[in-house]
Order: sequence, then C-alpha cells, then structure tokens
Amino acid sequence: MLTSEKPTEPRKALEPCTVVIFGASGDLTARKLIPALYHLFKDGQMPATFRIVGFARREKTDALWREELRAALDQFSRTKPVDNQVWSAFAQNLFYCLGDLADATAYTKLGQMLTGFGNQSLRDNLLFYMATQPSQFGLIVEQLHNATLLHKNGEHGWQRLVVEKPFGHDLASAHQLNQELTRYVQEQQVFRIDHYLGKETVQNILMFRFSNAIFERLWNRDSIDHVQITVSEKLGVGGRGGYYEEAGAVRDMVQNHLLQVLSLVAMEPPVSLEAEPVRDEKVKLLKSVRPFTPADVAKQVVRGQYSAGTIDGKPLPGYRQEQKVKPDSNVETYAAIKLFIDNWRWSDVPFYLRTGKALPMSASEVRIQFRPTPHVLFAAQCGGKIDQNALTLRLQPDEGISLRFNGKVPGASLGARPVRMHFSYDAEFGAYTPEAYERLLLEAMAGDATLFIRRDEVETAWQIADSIRAGWDGKPLSNREFYAAGTWGPVAADDLIAQTGQTWHEPQAVK
Ligand code: BG6
Repeated sequence: MLTSEKPTEPRKALEPCTVVIFGASGDLTARKLIPALYHLFKDGQMPATFRIVGFARREKTDALWREELRAALDQFSRTKPVDNQVWSAFAQNLFYCLGDLADATAYTKLGQMLTGFGNQSLRDNLLFYMATQPSQFGLIVEQLHNATLLHKNGEHGWQRLVVEKPFGHDLASAHQLNQELTRYVQEQQVFRIDHYLGKETVQNILMFRFSNAIFERLWNRDSIDHVQITVSEKLGVGGRGGYYEEAGAVRDMVQNHLLQVLSLVAMEPPVSLEAEPVRDEKVKLLKSVRPFTPADVAKQVVRGQYSAGTIDGKPLPGYRQEQKVKPDSNVETYAAIKLFIDNWRWSDVPFYLRTGKALPMSASEVRIQFRPTPHVLFAAQCGGKIDQNALTLRLQPDEGISLRFNGKVPGASLGARPVRMHFSYDAEFGAYTPEAYERLLLEAMAGDATLFIRRDEVETAWQIADSIRAGWDGKPLSNREFYAAGTWGPVAADDLIAQTGQTWHEPQAVK
C-alpha cells in the first residue's frame, strides 16, 4: 500500500523469511540488493529473524561470499563508512548455495540448507529474487516447484517471486513468460520490478495529486495544455552495448519507466490505496492510450541515435563505435513520443514522452503545462504574450516540485515576469534518500504488491511499445535522427513538438 509514512515511522513487523537470490554473483546483487538489505537491517526494518541465500555457479564459501559483499558494500553503500558492528551482525545471515540453475540436485541442496536453518518460517516463507537472465526464469520456477520449495496454494507459509526487468522483449515473449511463471504460482505471488516505482518522488505523484485539492481540480483537459515527461541520461551505453543492441530506448526505458510515470500522472483516483485498486486504474489508463498505426508513428514518434560528441568536456564515442554494437546499427538511444489518452479527462491533450542516453544532463521530470489565460490583459506591457503556468515535478536528482507563474516586476511599469515557487525534498525533509530497492524489497517481504507491475499491466505496456516499434520495422535511421552526444536529441524531436507551437522544456541544473 502507498502510505505517507515518515522515514522514522515503524511499520508492522515482518514475518521471518529467507530471501534467495538467483544470480547472486551478478552486478545487481553487489550494487543494489545487498546494500538495500543491509540498510533495511541497519534501520531495523528487516524481520527479527531472516536469512539471505545467494545461489550461483561459482565455487565459493559463505565466508568468501560475505567478504566479497563487504568489499562491494564499501563501494556502493549509500551511507559511508559501512558500520562494522552492523555489518557483522547482518553478515551472519548471509549464506552461499553453490549450484547450476538447471541442476535438480542443487535445489535439493537449497532445500536442505533452508531446513538446516532450524525454523519452519525460514524454510517456508521464501522470497525468490530472480536476478538472472529472463530466459532462465521459467526454468528456475519449474525446478523450485519440483523441489517442493514453491507452492501455489499458500498452505506452507508464503513464497513469492521477485522478477527483474526486462520482462520479455515484446508482448509475445512477456505473455509466454507470464504463462511460465503462473504455471506454478498464482499471479499474487509474482512481484515484477520496475525500480522507478521504488523512488520516493514517483510514489509522491499520487500523494501530490490526490491529497491536494487545488491541483487535482485543474488536472484535466480544461486546464492542461500538454504534459512532458522527460528521463534524460548523461551516460552513453558504455559496457552495455551487447544488451542495448537487443533493447533500444523504447524497450529499455519507455515500455517500463516512462509508461509507469505516465500512468501515475494521468490515472483516475483509485477507490483505495490497496494494490489492486491502484493497479486497476493504472491498467485502465494504459488501455486508454491511443494505439499507434505505422502512419501515426511516422508523425508522432521520433527516434534518435547519438553520434560522437562531448559531455562535460570529455569526448564520447558515437553509439555505433561502442563495444559490441554493430557499425551500422539502427538501434535507438533516444525516443520522443507524442501520445494521446482517449478518455474523458484527457481527450486531445498531447503527452510528450522523451528519453535518451548521452544527453547533456541526467534528470527525470514531469512538466504540466497549463493552458494560456483566455485574454492577455497586459498585452501591451508584455508583447501580447504571457508565459503559461507550469508545474514541474522533479523526480531526480534535486527532487522537488516547482510552480511557475507570472508576477509583476516591481516598479511603475506593468511588466510581468515568470517567477517560481519551489519545494525541495532535501530542504524540507533532510537528506533522506533510500534506494528504490530498499522500499521494493521491504514491500515484497511484506507481501504488498502496490509498487509492482501486474500481469495485465506489463502486457498492455508491451502492446504500446510494440506498436511504436512496428512503425520502424526495417527502416534505417535518417540523417535527422542522429544527435551529437551532449546535445538534447535529434532535430526531428524539436520538429515534433513544434507542430503544436511548443518547445521542449529542458531540465535545469539546480544551483
Ligand atoms: C534501467 C535501464 O532500467 O534504468 C538503464 O536499463 C537506465 O538503461 C536505468 O540507465 C535508469 O535508472 P535511474 O534510476 O538511474 O534513472
């Protein structure tokens, strides 16, 4: 459930459980999962009794795994230095299970290890974290089922699957993955991750909309001219060229993170903040997105790919020169999409979604651009045009919310100038910045699925992404679709928004 908990508020005690991480030698475990679990432990939020088991193929002892994780934590922890006392107490709960994902005996061994913990809850209440290749999810679930570690009916404690992205690479593969997972578990046991939902500012979108009377009244086609959702990243694809060649910006960012933000910005109020009502409304919203025909894609979607450029004074190679990228690759590292939501609230309001790598700065924000005043009273004083009001929800970094409106410039003349009212998370709440994974792991242990993606939600989002990609099928990138690294995307994207007389609002660095 989404709550207004303050960071210091205790939550209800969690039942004892074991977290089993598949793909435990991977990057995600070292960079995100273990630091998140360590911080939950440090903040007294883990269950009173718990174990964490790393399951992977490389030979190592518990002691060696703990040592490696400690070194990783020193590097990736959000609080430094790592507290030695807290770490020692935490590390006693870490165990390593050597095994091949395809080997049935490895799961028998895992079962024996769980039984050996000597507590029925640690044997039965199991959070299986799938941090492996998606192609292995089905296999793991089947093996867990065969080893009687996974039950559909809830008779033996609870078992849940936490599934990392990418969840499939199109609708058909996502559908198949869903079939494979739900052969042995109920949908309610599947927790599909989108780490954007673990971010405080993303959760705050609903809080902001539905706990403030003044904004929600304006949150519709009568008052809003258009909405811009931007997720820009400074980094290029770096060492992830191989993955990115199979993904591209629409699969990697739009299908999940941007559509999730869109659904929270545009959905109707849910009947309650429980998981199902919230997710029902998100799905309803995604289903109202007007489907794209290839002709719509040509008019409403721009893709781009970065060529060599400079970011912060440092040269960056073009995407086609990155490792494991084909020299004639047409994969998009940038996408700008104009979409419409065909429902009562949003009819004909354009929503612009934009994301890209190798842009001038990393920032995510939602910009609500309000309609102009019906009449410019101060036309003579401000050249016939007065700035439209805008509300910016800055999701990261420098988290905050700004309202832009016009004010009179002091003095005898009647000049108007846009001014800003700003709320900063940091200034208001202090530097409380838990990692998204902390919240998500906590919710998964608590069995609350609000911040996870439901089956119909992931499939609907793929439908949208597929219809966009289908418009590009077989078409090479044109010259207008390349952009130099360190610039705000291809010129074709400026043309896209200029159709409605608007311009992109570039996120600003906060001084
Ligand atoms: C991931 C994508 O899901 O999200 C990455 O695979 C991207 O390509 C990342 O860099 C962005 O996440 P964040 O939290 O840094 O905005």
